[in-house]
Amino acid sequence: MRSLLLLSSCLALVVAGDLRYSQTVGKDGTISLQWDFDTESETITLQIQCKCKGWVALGFSPSGGMKGADIVIVGKYLNKTVYFADYHAPEYSRPVKDDLQNYQLLSVTEDETTTTARFSRKFRTCDNNDVDITKDTMSMIFAHGGADDNLKYHGSNCFQENIILLNEEGNTYSPEPTTSSYFDVLMNDYPVPSDVTTYGCQFLGPFQFSQKYHIYKVEALIQPGNENLVHHMIVYSCPNNTQIVKESGICYSKDPKYAAYYQCVQLMSGWAVGGGDLVLPPEAGISIGDLNDPTYLKIEIHYNNMKKLSEIRDNSGFRLHYTSELRMYDSGIIQTGYFLFHLNMFIPPGVEYFETNGLCKTKKFQELNPGPVTDMQVFDFFPHTHLSGKTVEAALFRDGKQMSSLGQDLHFDFNLQRIRPINVTVKMGDDIRTKCTYNTLSATKLVPGGLSTEEEMCLVFFFYYPKNSIATCESEANQTYVAEQLGVDPSLPLTISLANYSWDADSIMTAQVATKQSVQTVIIGNELGEKVVDFGVNQEITQPERGVCSATTYTIPG
Ligand SMILES: *[C@@H]1O[C@H](CO)[C@@H](O)[C@H](O)[C@H]1NC(C)=O
Ligand SMILES: *[C@@H]1O[C@H](CO)[C@@H](O)[C@H](O)[C@H]1NC(C)=O
Ligand SMILES: *[C@@H]1O[C@H](CO)[C@@H](O)[C@H](O)[C@H]1NC(C)=O
Ligand SMILES: *[C@@H]1O[C@H](CO)[C@@H](O)[C@H](O)[C@H]1NC(C)=O
Ligand SMILES: *[C@@H]1O[C@H](CO)[C@@H](O)[C@H](O)[C@H]1NC(C)=O
Repeated sequence: MRSLLLLSSCLALVVAGDLRYSQTVGKDGTISLQWDFDTESETITLQIQCKCKGWVALGFSPSGGMKGADIVIVGKYLNKTVYFADYHAPEYSRPVKDDLQNYQLLSVTEDETTTTARFSRKFRTCDNNDVDITKDTMSMIFAHGGADDNLKYHGSNCFQENIILLNEEGNTYSPEPTTSSYFDVLMNDYPVPSDVTTYGCQFLGPFQFSQKYHIYKVEALIQPGNENLVHHMIVYSCPNNTQIVKESGICYSKDPKYAAYYQCVQLMSGWAVGGGDLVLPPEAGISIGDLNDPTYLKIEIHYNNMKKLSEIRDNSGFRLHYTSELRMYDSGIIQTGYFLFHLNMFIPPGVEYFETNGLCKTKKFQELNPGPVTDMQVFDFFPHTHLSGKTVEAALFRDGKQMSSLGQDLHFDFNLQRIRPINVTVKMGDDIRTKCTYNTLSATKLVPGGLSTEEEMCLVFFFYYPKNSIATCESEANQTYVAEQLGVDPSLPLTISLANYSWDADSIMTAQVATKQSVQTVIIGNELGEKVVDFGVNQEITQPERGVCSATTYTIPG
């Protein structure tokens, strides 16, 4: 249903010449990108707008650099002849025109100040020199020639930007309720530090209501003027016993004065640059005002202060729209992945690839629920690692067989944390497997699991209905077994026994095999903090088959 709605609105918009998504890219605001896509015909329309007069280029680059990039270059000569072609860059050198031209030019305009070019392509062409466009975060590169139509080296006029292009979030479900209200969860005139990266935190509340309501939409409110500063935002609900502090402060700080912000880890909603609103399906809403519902919330905002500006204040955050027209179900959020709190999660330092596997078994969910637990209709997923995370995958297993994907991002970017739609039914008895991969080449010490951004996590949150009382369902490897394999004290948590371990290729391999192959302890927790334990083994998640490619090619104009 969601994709049908999307298709009709999308086609109409594309024909009307109005692209749904837009973002400025790079530091100086010279280039902006507008785009739209149609999932049915697997076509994306891209429009690059440059405050420049020479050539402009846009590319998809798995490595982030020139090498291996799929590039399109466009412009207009002084005599008005248009040039446009599909290139690739086999090396860090001048790109080469593809034998197969898979981009279709739609328009080019150039005036005194600006060049605008619009073109389209299929998500997956049959050309090995083109990069597939997927739901993963796409690594894009942009460049321009200033005033020059001569395709020579672009100097410093180039940059890389990660963008989630196939962004299906925020598709409005109809109908909206006839009566509704809202409350805001905003930073309170937060003095944004002049550091490039700040995670600012603020508690809000108490929010008290005279009855139960359903939140049906969570809207991002970015303070006008701060659009280039606010990079991502997350709102968490706080448990009853949270020690609230009124002042805003730094999240994930080692400074004890900010320790309070480590409380409240139950995700409620999130937004990242380029994203839309969280809109719940018409069957479900987030319950607020009922007996066990949270009264305090915490907001976290990642500020990306590239120009290191000082004296900026910020009041961005979320507007939570709620209604008394209760939907059929309460929605819930379940957290799956690797269990952190026994201090056994670790990634060796200096490795290009290490994987962490999580297992959630639903078989015992009933034991922690007062009422009967029914199938869970999952409608959104939210992958989460910290700065070393490279990929996140989740999949549904039934009777030992992989049934379907439960979402993935094979190019995860911590700074693009986005809630993404999915439509999968989890039946009781099913297993949910998660896999995260990391690159710790820049770390010199063990990277432990933990809450700060230099520590790591492997989590996937699922938004689903009807709500049951399970909050977390995570697993960990067998501490004793892994410690024995690595020859360290098995009575200590691994992050402690391995803190000063001297790693080599063999021991890294041993750590990987031991954590992956040992019996996994599944720890299931409900909202009251009650827990049950189950056991299982890891199984590989297999990648879904890639769809058929589209062999359509175009002739180059000019
Ligand atoms: C989800 O999938 C089910 C069938 O598996 C379908 O009936 C339902 O309409 C889908 N929901 C959305 C929002 O696409
Ligand atoms: C326009 O200029 C370009 C570059 O100088 C040249 O290659 C092209 O042939 C010219 N086109 C016409 C129609 O004169
Ligand atoms: C939270 O506190 C309220 C009273 O302030 C109480 O009614 C409710 O049962 C508590 N919820 C939990 C989960 O302890
Ligand atoms: C964990 O490993 C130890 C040592 O190999 C073993 O004795 C123990 O039974 C294992 N625990 C589980 C739950 O498999
Ligand atoms: C690791 O080394 C640091 C100092 O380099 C020391 O403070 C710490 O106690 C050591 N940890 C263990 C578990 O030996």
